[in-house]
Amino acid sequence: MSGHLRSTTLRFMAEPADQNFGGKVHGGAVMKWIDLAAYACGAGWSGKYCITAYAGGIRFVQPIHVGSIVEINAKVIYTGRTSMHIGISVLAGDPKNPERHLTTHCIVIMVAVDDSGRPSPVPEWVPETEEDIYLRDSAMRLMDMRKQIGEEMQAHVRGYLPKDKR
Ligand SMILES: CC(C)(COP(=O)(O)OP(=O)(O)OC[C@H]1O[C@@H](n2cnc3c(N)ncnc32)[C@H](O)[C@@H]1OP(=O)(O)O)[C@@H](O)C(=O)NCCC(=O)NCCS
Repeated sequence: MSGHLRSTTLRFMAEPADQNFGGKVHGGAVMKWIDLAAYACGAGWSGKYCITAYAGGIRFVQPIHVGSIVEINAKVIYTGRTSMHIGISVLAGDPKNPERHLTTHCIVIMVAVDDSGRPSPVPEWVPETEEDIYLRDSAMRLMDMRKQIGEEMQAHVRGYLPKDKR
């Protein structure tokens, strides 16, 4: 097992097969790329096979045009015992010029698993720069907020059950 690679970038072209009915890149395609980058990043940090436990806070800031160069940046911003919180930013731009702009960002939580599929420990990531401490603190605040959202979601899901089963 190796691991300890903190960040990963996937870089490729947005193809016609990725487009939605409006001619821009399909949101579902972007989410798949995000999941691939998060997996590569989690596997690179942990040195283990990983599964997606959570993906959230996804914000589509700008559309991606077919024919753009797409760059998915994934980096570890917090580690728990078996989980890695991964900050993702998706940049895109015309291949004819060097500028890239932010199109999407989100957070994915990957959990390392052993050969039996059970959660397995990951190396601790310790932030050192001011920027990384900021990202780690933000990941921790989001973790707290997700707990509250989780409670509200459970209440929400009960709304789909028959009255006598809520
Ligand atoms: C991810 C999974 C293995 C976690 O299993 P679990 O029984 O909750 O395991 P644990 O309680 O030991 O939690 C393992 C880690 O996952 C984290 N985790 C579990 N559910 C989570 C959630 N909803 N959001 C964020 N983190 C979560 C825990 O905090 C823990 O992290 P830590 O070890 O760093 O503290 C399990 O929920 C699973 O298999 N989910 C389906 C994954 C999948 O199919 N992904 C593909 C989706 S397309």
